[in-house]
Amino acid sequence: MDIAELRKRSVIFSALDEEEAATVLKMARMVQHPARHTVFQEGEPGDHLLVVMQGRVKVSLVSQDGKEAILSILEPGDLFGEMALLDGEARSASVTTMEPCSFLVLWRRDFLPFLERNPRVALKLLAALSKRLRATNDMVGNLSFLNLPARLARILINLGQQYGKLTAEGIAIGLKLSQEELGNLVGVSRESVNRQVRHWVEAGVLDYTHGTIVLKNSDLLFREALNSER
Ligand code: CMP
Repeated sequence: MDIAELRKRSVIFSALDEEEAATVLKMARMVQHPARHTVFQEGEPGDHLLVVMQGRVKVSLVSQDGKEAILSILEPGDLFGEMALLDGEARSASVTTMEPCSFLVLWRRDFLPFLERNPRVALKLLAALSKRLRATNDMVGNLSFLNLPARLARILINLGQQYGKLTAEGIAIGLKLSQEELGNLVGVSRESVNRQVRHWVEAGVLDYTHGTIVLKNSDLLFREALNSER
């Protein structure tokens, strides 16, 4: 991603002109990690935030017995690690790469004085945090009020909107997800997701091969997503 792309996609850079963006880049360092690398774990101290430049990461909570709840999937332009940087508390969640990734790293000692000098960036950051809270509220609402088919249908529709490509077979989601990860996104076991997915594969609603999902009947998924009180 070059500076122009960064200014289009990242909340930090979108409020800056080219010269200001170059100044921020000078404070930052690039790091790279392979797929399935733990960038940091919930509970660790944190004095830096990261902007995704390449690849995707998942933000998750892991229970004592190793169960995972996926809070969000982030892609190029998105940032994470800002919470510990801003409030000085421990990392609120774990972040793991889903693909080979590169990140821009910004440290508290540079970023906080920069925010004080650039209230436009601070406002953009507040708006991004509000958007994140809305998405989390949606997730809590869905968990509390919707049955499994509706929750899974909504997640698949969202993934289709975010990562989908139109193909002859339908909307192919360009993100490999295991059934376990799908379950962790929806808040149910792999077995329950497996049953529902198998039912939809047999009914021609979708295809699921080696982690790649193709949505073949989006109308039916939309109906499932709406038809939903627990
Ligand atoms: P931090 O607490 O420093 O480390 C974990 C990061 O995960 C956190 O900053 C946010 O960037 C991100 N994060 C935490 N909770 C959520 C959420 N509900 N949705 C999306 N991202 C989150």
